[in-house]
Amino acid sequence: MYDFDKLVNRRGMGTCKYLGVDENILPMTIADMEFLPPPEVTEAIAKRAKIGNYGYTMMTDEDYEAVMSWVQKRHNFAIKREELLPTCGVLNTMRCSMYSLTEAGDKVVVVLPLHTPSIKSASMQGRIACESYMKLDEAGDYTFDFADLERHFSDGAKVLMMCSPHNPTGRVWRMDELTKLAELVKKYNVMVISDEIHRDLIYRGSKHIMLASLPDMAERVVTVFSPSKTFNLGGCHIGSAVIADAELRERVRAKLYEFGHECGRPPLFSLIAQTAAYKYGENYLDEMLEYLSSNIDLAEEYFADLPISFRRPEASFLLWVDCRKLNLNTAELGKVLQEAGISADPGHYYDTYKINDYHGLQHHFRLAIGMPKALLEPALERLRKRFLNF
Ligand SMILES: Cc1ncc(COP(=O)(O)O)c(C=O)c1O
Repeated sequence: MYDFDKLVNRRGMGTCKYLGVDENILPMTIADMEFLPPPEVTEAIAKRAKIGNYGYTMMTDEDYEAVMSWVQKRHNFAIKREELLPTCGVLNTMRCSMYSLTEAGDKVVVVLPLHTPSIKSASMQGRIACESYMKLDEAGDYTFDFADLERHFSDGAKVLMMCSPHNPTGRVWRMDELTKLAELVKKYNVMVISDEIHRDLIYRGSKHIMLASLPDMAERVVTVFSPSKTFNLGGCHIGSAVIADAELRERVRAKLYEFGHECGRPPLFSLIAQTAAYKYGENYLDEMLEYLSSNIDLAEEYFADLPISFRRPEASFLLWVDCRKLNLNTAELGKVLQEAGISADPGHYYDTYKINDYHGLQHHFRLAIGMPKALLEPALERLRKRFLNF
């Protein structure tokens, strides 16, 4: 029903991904997609633009209902309306939640690899970031290093800022992993801020579990989410937080206000986009997930006998490509990709460029593959040509 093969020229209109990128390089960097959003989103925005009323706007019952029924349908989670905080995007809400839970000098744990803005969040306003690197389990999948997390928690860290599902590895945390995490968090009285921006983009075989839904966890978790990855609305900067603890919720609301955002009054067109997407976007999302899944199949085919590889992501449209066999550093790997006609985010972006501390991340890159096959196939072909017989 939806045309994910349609090519849209996003150059020349301020699109971050394409700014300063040469015509013959295909950017596969920033985590947005080349697809149009559900048509109802554009129709709803155009309808309002035709009327021309751009005055101050507050969320209506319909807007709240759209968020709550989406979460009920897609995540089987009933949000009480009073527990829902409308926000202007994920990063600022993560940060303001962290400011509400800590004071300058407090320790905040982040789990790496992780995209740089999220890592940086943990050390803002005088907080001390404690970095915990994931480890590979026996199957070769990234998982939490629980001993390392416990070390940070027992050392007095107050907050864990986590990403679920995880960018860049594409992991969807399983119940056994979350249960273990919840036990630790409760033991050391740690609060969790959970970035769930990728949670609608789950592939068959995996299931997203909200940490807040585990026993005795609702009051310990600030859950932050948004339609921006789901429906390609990144430029709209809109989202929600669910905070069960009333006192904490008011503290977060006050912090958001202090940093310039009044909850319940998001930017007008962003609000219109969010409500239309949640109300009408379900079939679109299901079809898009099928399309993305077949994009991953394609990438698997093209990568089949290359010296670089990726674990199939359980969520989202990002491939975390392991190039350790090539033994190239960030700069060298970037040059090779450039020669192939591709730009991708270097692995070092996911540990804030710690070139000297070896964690192996520099031997990776992240590839965003949310695009029509007419763009993806030539890109994969370029990569294949460059890396075959490397
Ligand atoms: C894990 C994660 N969190 C947050 C963001 C940014 O969210 P926002 O633009 O709503 O601040 C991104 C965007 O790439 C992301 O991947």
